[in-house]
Amino acid sequence: MLFGKKNQKAVAGEPNSAPSKTAREHAARKRGGDSIVDVTAVPREDASEPVSARVGVPAVLECRGASFAYDGAADGAQVVRDLSLAVRKGEFVAIVGSNGAGKTTTSKLLNGLLKPSAGEVLVDGVPTVQLRTSELARRVGMLFQNPDRQICQNTVADELAFSLRVTGVDPDEAARRVNALVDEFGFDAQAAPYLLSRGERQMLALASVIAAEPEVLILDEPTCGLDYRECMDVMARVKELNKRGTTVVMITHDMEVAFDFARRVIAMADGRVVADGAPETVFRNAAAMEAASLVPPQMIELSLRLAREPENGRAFAHVATAYEMVQVLGAAGFRKRKVS
Ligand SMILES: Nc1ncnc2c1ncn2[C@@H]1O[C@H](COP(=O)(O)OP(=O)(O)OP(=O)(O)O)[C@@H](O)[C@H]1O
Ligand SMILES: [Mg+2]
Repeated sequence: MLFGKKNQKAVAGEPNSAPSKTAREHAARKRGGDSIVDVTAVPREDASEPVSARVGVPAVLECRGASFAYDGAADGAQVVRDLSLAVRKGEFVAIVGSNGAGKTTTSKLLNGLLKPSAGEVLVDGVPTVQLRTSELARRVGMLFQNPDRQICQNTVADELAFSLRVTGVDPDEAARRVNALVDEFGFDAQAAPYLLSRGERQMLALASVIAAEPEVLILDEPTCGLDYRECMDVMARVKELNKRGTTVVMITHDMEVAFDFARRVIAMADGRVVADGAPETVFRNAAAMEAASLVPPQMIELSLRLAREPENGRAFAHVATAYEMVQVLGAAGFRKRKVS
């Protein structure tokens, strides 16, 4: 057993933040369960402009016309093509797109693991080709899709300390951080990582990345393969980190998770950006959704379909959450039955 009671409690009932493996499961979970919030009663969180739109906020990650081809690729085929984007301090960005769109490759360019074959990628304004690996690792933490590729130590405590040791953090400071994470996450410090569940290992991998206190966190499909509660736990942690100031870039195939958590969505297809902006704007962009072979979150899709009906069209045009749907239906005379 990895977690104490504190963690079980922390996952329950985050308004507007219920991730899951697939959009359909996600919606189903939103409907049922004792500890699940009634999302029809919770308004959307502030959906103000993305940080990227604010003048004067420094870019922590930037691609300037960056392209990349893997060695040995047929005809030197580029999987990232002429990519230009900036991620600014404090943002929570989701990168979405179909399989092979170039999301993971882009994330590895952004954390400096791969270097662009053309153009530039900058971390805090410095080209990644000029930064040492240890420096990059300290600034940009990366949670890989499969925690087992990350976990390499025999106990939870050693795993948490590992990245601190390799990045040269003072041993006393490292011990302080490890103890704090053990306490905060409710870990059993002496547990063997490989005996933990998939979700527990994912949480351990996340905590190990956080231990280095990076200013930017890149997460490659952090909720993939997790059950609902594990997803909620991971995403609640990520949301909290972002609230405390960590810049988050999250790759996900789950549009509900992207919509519920990110403040900006970048949709990719064939190594290029096809849409970049506020989640609702991107998900309502039919051409971009088609180009990226994506289906928007269920409530947005429903609202788009209802908006096509001439008789009720405009009323549903801006509905994006269950709460807003209930408001519009209520105004039209439908009444919500109280669930006892
Ligand atoms: N190490 C590699 N060597 C050669 N080609 C690769 C390598 N890694 C990825 N590719 C190819 O690069 C393209 C982009 O892959 P990438 O992993 O970036 O896509 P993705 O958007 O993350 O996809 P997924 O959603 O499946 O994870 C794909 O065609 C993939 O086959
Ligand atoms: Mg990938």
